[in-house]
Order: sequence, then C-alpha cells, then structure tokens
Amino acid sequence: MIVFTPANNKGGVGKTGVSAMFAEYCSLILKKKTLAIDLDGQCNFSSRYLPMEVDPSSPEGHIPPIHPDYDPTDPEDEDWDGRSSISDIFYGKPVIPYPTYISDLDVAPANGSRLLSAEHVRKNEVAHKVHDRLNEFLSLPEVKSTYDVVVIDTAPSKGPLTISAVRAATHIVIPSIMEENSIHGVYGILQLWMQENFKRSNREKIQLVGIMPNMFDNRTALHNQLYDDLLKHPELGKYVFPKDIKLSRRVIFAETACTGSNPRSVFDLPKSNVARQEALRVCEYMAEKVFSFQGECV
Ligand SMILES: Nc1ncnc2c1ncn2[C@@H]1O[C@H](COP(=O)(O)OP(=O)(O)O)[C@@H](O)[C@H]1O
Ligand SMILES: [Mg+2]
Repeated sequence: MIVFTPANNKGGVGKTGVSAMFAEYCSLILKKKTLAIDLDGQCNFSSRYLPMEVDPSSPEGHIPPIHPDYDPTDPEDEDWDGRSSISDIFYGKPVIPYPTYISDLDVAPANGSRLLSAEHVRKNEVAHKVHDRLNEFLSLPEVKSTYDVVVIDTAPSKGPLTISAVRAATHIVIPSIMEENSIHGVYGILQLWMQENFKRSNREKIQLVGIMPNMFDNRTALHNQLYDDLLKHPELGKYVFPKDIKLSRRVIFAETACTGSNPRSVFDLPKSNVARQEALRVCEYMAEKVFSFQGECV
C-alpha cells in the first residue's frame, strides 16, 4: 500500500490541492482504491468531498456529517454518535471512512478541535499518543487489504500531526511556490524527512518524490530565478521537478477547491483543457516514481 504525503510547513503552497489532485488521479484515472486522510484541523481536504458541519462546541471548527452507515435504531451503533474522523485514532476509537462521489475514493475526514488537541499533547507523551498512531491505523489488516493508495493532507506545521503523517508515509512530495518563504518550508520538511529516514532500514526508507513548483508564473523573474537556483543546488537539484512538469497559477485550480464547484475534479474537465493536461503531467510524473518504487517500500 502506497502512503503518499504532500508536506511543507508553510501554508498556502498547495498541499491540499496536490493531495486532492493525486487522490483523484489515482481513483478516477488509475481506478485504484484510494483513501484520502485529512490531518489538517482546517478541514479543507474533507470539505472537498463531504458537507462538513459547524462544530457546536467550537463554532470556528468543523466536524464530519452523520455517516451514511449510521443507524440509530441498530443496537450495534448504540455507542456511536454517527460521526467518524481520523482524529478518532488518538482516542482509541475505530475510524470508518466515508464514501465520496468518486466510487474508488473514500475519505477519513478531520475534526478540527480534536486534531488541535492532538497537536497539544505534552512533550513526554507525544511519541506514544500521537506520532505512531497513524502508522498503527494504516497497518491494520482491514485498511491494508481495502486500499491501494492512501493520501494524507497535512497541516502547515512541523508539529506532532505532520510528524505522524511523515512517519506513516512511504512517499512524500514537497509542493512549494518559488518564493522565499515557501522555500524555507522545503528545507524544514527535508530535515524532517532525513530525521525519519535515519531511523528506518534501507527497505523502509521514505522516498522523496520531489520538490514540486506550484503557482508558477513563467513571466515572473523571481519564480524563474529561484527555480533555477534550486535546480542547480548540489544536493537538492536532483529532487526538483523538471521544467515542463509544474503547476501554473490558474483560477480553475482554485475553483475546483470550492464547495459545490462544477466540475468537481480537474480530471472531469475535457481532455483538451490545458489545466487538466498540466495536472495530468504532474500526476503521471509522481505516479511513475511512486509506483516504480513500490517494491522497496512496506
Ligand atoms: N496552481 C494553483 N493555481 C491557482 N490557485 C491555486 C493553485 N494551487 C493552489 N491554489 C489555491 O491557493 C490556495 C492555497 O492552496 P492549498 O492547496 O489550500 O495550500 P495549502 O494546503 O498548502 O495551505 C487555495 O485557495 C487553492 O485553491
Ligand atoms: Mg491545506
């Protein structure tokens, strides 16, 4: 099972966009059974697939809707409130993924306030209570036998939740805008990647799919300059996506992120659409790396 995690500790660089793009590519185009996990308390990834509700106990936060399998008259559901989120792994409860409008894509949504409390667990307990939980969930036989691919969207931090996502990952990709702040985030995640790989045997090393330029504008000198600098970097150059494989800044990418957008996925656009073609090139490039490395990962 592939566990694919876009990470960058800066916000607004395209983690959620790339998570959705790759999850939709794997499920819609490759027909692989895919699980989308939202580990960001902002719930943006969840909202793309589910009508998330306002959390009555914390009006700025969101909770998942009632699960379609929940039956309040069924005695087996007696101890369940009908909602399930990935944060249940931190409370010793089972996670019941939701189906989405894409038949091969399920989602384990976020619960804003519960994820936030996992982020605030005390230092001496965090390894046991948070860091390893996602790995344990993804090692469950029923999860491994149901899904070919898991895509984990992460929060813009290097906190306990991102550490748990990187710990569970077989592959990471680092999306970045070619601007200074986002590139600082690239270095932050590379450090986390190296720390985690240091603890793993050669067979289990996390594969770095690469550093993916997002919202690239060919006419912006700064974007071209920083991209060329990264490409020439003696250690990092080999990880940077090639010149013709990057995402430009396009309104349609932002539009498909909105609730109720039409089309819902960039892959529902006509084959002649340039945004779809660009997304396809990026996903094909990542898939080639991800699936050819499969044999080396657990
Ligand atoms: N290539 C792109 N072109 C235009 N807008 C984009 C692009 N990638 C992301 N966006 C938009 O930019 C914002 C931040 O992207 P998002 O994927 O949410 O970043 P993150 O998850 O890293 O915070 C969102 O509104 C998203 O729709
Ligand atoms: Mg996000």
